[in-house]
Amino acid sequence: MLTARPRGTNDILPREAAHWRAVEAAVHLLCRRFAFGEIRTPLFEYTELFQRGVGEDTDIVEKEMYTFYDRANPPRSLTLRPEGTAAVVRAYLENRLDAGPQPVKLYYVASPMFRYDRPQAGRYRQFHQAGAEVFGAADPAADAEVIALAHGLFTELGLLGIEVRLNSIGCPGCRPAYRERLREYYRPHLAEACPECRRRFERNPLRLIDCKKDACRLLAAGAPPVIASLCPACAEHFTSVQGYLAVLGVPFAVDPGIVRGLDYYTRTVFEVVHGGLGAQSSLCGGGRYDGLVETLGGPPTPAVGFAVGMERLLLTMEKEGVLPPAGEGLDVFVTCAGEAAGTVRRAAFALLARLRAAGLAAEMDLAGRSFKAQMKHAGRLGARFVAIVGEDEVARDVVGLREMAAGTQVEVPAGEVAERVAAALRGATRTGF
Ligand code: HAM
Repeated sequence: MLTARPRGTNDILPREAAHWRAVEAAVHLLCRRFAFGEIRTPLFEYTELFQRGVGEDTDIVEKEMYTFYDRANPPRSLTLRPEGTAAVVRAYLENRLDAGPQPVKLYYVASPMFRYDRPQAGRYRQFHQAGAEVFGAADPAADAEVIALAHGLFTELGLLGIEVRLNSIGCPGCRPAYRERLREYYRPHLAEACPECRRRFERNPLRLIDCKKDACRLLAAGAPPVIASLCPACAEHFTSVQGYLAVLGVPFAVDPGIVRGLDYYTRTVFEVVHGGLGAQSSLCGGGRYDGLVETLGGPPTPAVGFAVGMERLLLTMEKEGVLPPAGEGLDVFVTCAGEAAGTVRRAAFALLARLRAAGLAAEMDLAGRSFKAQMKHAGRLGARFVAIVGEDEVARDVVGLREMAAGTQVEVPAGEVAERVAAALRGATRTGF
């Protein structure tokens, strides 16, 4: 147990962390271009926030939340956040962002989320989301903007095989009639649906369309599409969103099967899927949630947003072979020739500090290796240069500088090593020095 991480969690090792940073940088860059500001919310919130926000009839609230009591007296029920939207709405209201100029556009990057689900490739108990939320804009252009942002992120990262699937699930005005149509469709087939769907049939028949069980998927394929039941205002909104997406050049397909598994959505819903992900094909999900701010105690506020699963995004990038080169590597490895613990080593250590202060990635041996072993180790670390410090060099205040790829070596004044290496790395000198 001591050496096993909890099921459904992952360690992110340095090589992978470099990939994560590249994706995070792309999120920051794109969100800046789209004029979103970053928000970071706590890892846990009061449980009621998700019960009310995500919805009592959802998989998340029914069976996936990590809920615990703290030591307060009386104890309060807290929950590790299973998703970001309810938490961002809470922060929007608590910090009175609703009182300032609207819309308020917020994004989060690589935020840990927690769901007690059955782990498999692309599905974890702790996973990370990057997401964006827009508050105070009812305009269908806002829906198109967040979809364009999500789509832009995937294309910026070089992913080709993605597809935007779009749908509208109407508003509290037109949805009850659609729910009734769904019940009429499902009623004669209820025996074929899974027990969970049978249970949800009365209260929330939309959930039946979203069920991933084989038998339920078959049934869902024949269900009446929601867009045929939209009220005129919702239908017009949906048409406008599609028009704006066309203007923005974002390709999409209308898919009546997208209804989303969280209760807060109204009108526009969408997912970005990728064929290479298998069962967990959804890279990103989102949509409009015009009622959520009010449900959580705020003024009526239209809102729209999405979240991307970071692990799934990185898996997909790996599958498509578009992961960026991992890390920058080591610029200089400083080797000590001769005595291990005396003047030479101190000179080498001082050089190491100067290299680092000059902004170079530098390293030296801390494991008592022989000179030969140090050279080998420098090669293993992929160091671009090796600075050789020996008794003779110290006496003459010079350093032997070897460019590993070229196999060339020159002697340079100790005070000029950092400058020479930096210049060579910038490409200022063509070959060697
Ligand atoms: P969601 O569809 O539950 O939506 O999650 C969004 C994305 O998070 C999924 O498309 C998937 O990539 C990733 N994801 C979800 N569960 C897991 C898991 N167990 N393991 C790995 N990745 C996972 C939301 O969370 C909404 N808050 C999105 C949103 C924002 N809607 C409006 N604003």
